Amino acid sequence: MSTEKKKLAAAEGALDYIQAGDVIGVGTGSTANYFIDALAGIKGKIDGAVASSEATAKRLKNHGIQVLDLNSVPGLPIYVDGADEATSHRHLIKGGGGALTREKIVAGASEKFICIADDTKLVDTLGAFPLPIEVIPMARSHVARQLVKHGGIPELRDGYKTDNGNLILDVHNLTILNPIDKERELNNIAGVVTVGIFALRPADILVLGGESDLQIIQ
Ligand code: 5RP
Repeated sequence: MSTEKKKLAAAEGALDYIQAGDVIGVGTGSTANYFIDALAGIKGKIDGAVASSEATAKRLKNHGIQVLDLNSVPGLPIYVDGADEATSHRHLIKGGGGALTREKIVAGASEKFICIADDTKLVDTLGAFPLPIEVIPMARSHVARQLVKHGGIPELRDGYKTDNGNLILDVHNLTILNPIDKERELNNIAGVVTVGIFALRPADILVLGGESDLQIIQ
């Protein structure tokens, strides 16, 4: 089965977790886009969505799904989003699409985080995918120097600005053996807005599209 079909299967699998009247937190990226398209088919069942990026808000609106401000809801029952890497402990690397900060906020505000991906995203150890880190522009060089001290090789995402007006450093050469400690450590560098490790608030359920079936890890 192609990677795209696996993503689609995972996205459609996430619909099973939605209850009538839910406001859904919605992630960003190609797998999240499949989810948004699938969500459109049951839009009468939900009370709206909170978007993790401008691109996601636009796609939701194009489907006629009401987009709500996170500040206008008391919390979210469910957040559905993709990942760049995931472990069986449900720790993730996210931010390949640059939306990591808003994604982490929406994930943090949600009771249940359903991560949808094709099964090639499942890894033993995080770090082969370059770790995205959102950085305040004036701190770019300082943060990059600190990351080198941590053994990383940071690369500025060329010509890219986040929805929050910041920069992304993609950090190569990291083997993330303890994602919880590494998330805390890198988040503590002055000038870092968010690191793309999602371990302090991991996914609750991984829905992975595979060759023939969905793999559920919880
Ligand atoms: C965006 C993300 C995405 O979830 C991640 O990059 C996976 O994307 P895709 O579903 O296109 O493979 O974190 O910031």
